[in-house]
Amino acid sequence: MKALTFVTQKGGSGKSTLCISLAVAAREAGHTVCILEMDRQATVSDWLDHRTVDGPEVAQIDATQIDAVIERLRESAYDYVFIDTPGVDSTGTLSAIRAADLCIIPCRPTPADLRAFKPTLAAVYRLEKRFAFVLNQTPPRSYRVRDAADGLAVLGVLPDVNIVARTDHQDAIGLGLGVTELNPKGQAADEVRRLWAWIARRTQAPRQGQRTERHVQAA
Ligand SMILES: Nc1ncnc2c1ncn2[C@@H]1O[C@H](COP(=O)(O)OP(=O)(O)OP(=O)(O)O)[C@@H](O)[C@H]1O
Ligand SMILES: [Mg+2]
Repeated sequence: MKALTFVTQKGGSGKSTLCISLAVAAREAGHTVCILEMDRQATVSDWLDHRTVDGPEVAQIDATQIDAVIERLRESAYDYVFIDTPGVDSTGTLSAIRAADLCIIPCRPTPADLRAFKPTLAAVYRLEKRFAFVLNQTPPRSYRVRDAADGLAVLGVLPDVNIVARTDHQDAIGLGLGVTELNPKGQAADEVRRLWAWIARRTQAPRQGQRTERHVQAA
């Protein structure tokens, strides 16, 4: 099992949106996944409430539970555990970073966002965790994206795909879907699939797609 923690204390950068659509894309790629939601805002649970398609399992947990839950899940049939964290720094955020095999830091290509992830990055460095930036809500093409990408590439790992601002992301979450389910042939879906392929290559959890996903509570 590999844990992917979506983290940055900058609100609205796309943690929940990417967590959901990447979890769906991972399932479509044959992986068994579950989502742990650590944000009381409950974006993922709300998404699940609107979902009519089966899976993935979602569990809401708090900072006091994460260590024990992750320990149990390490031995479970899940290939990947996706952890969505709140847009504020908290003890839960630190525990979620500690639990991660890879921290995914979504970032919009704006000066304010590019400054705001620094405390998150400091925590990630302190805990000696692997991380990747994902440029999210980018315009399709702009110098600003290129500048941001150059800056982030110097700091650490940057995937070979950016996630462009597209209404598919907003529509999908509202309907309880991932973007790859909403509009499988759309560009948003293509970008998310490419991002998932990149993350899967980086983390290389063995695919256990034939196994049945167990309930996260029971794992
Ligand atoms: N690539 C995208 N294209 C268009 N809209 C997007 C994209 N990514 C995120 N959004 C929208 O931006 C808003 C914030 O996204 P999201 O809730 O995922 O951010 P967050 O980092 O989880 O925020 P918080 O810190 O409050 O939990 C949402 O309305 C979402 O639909
Ligand atoms: Mg969120």
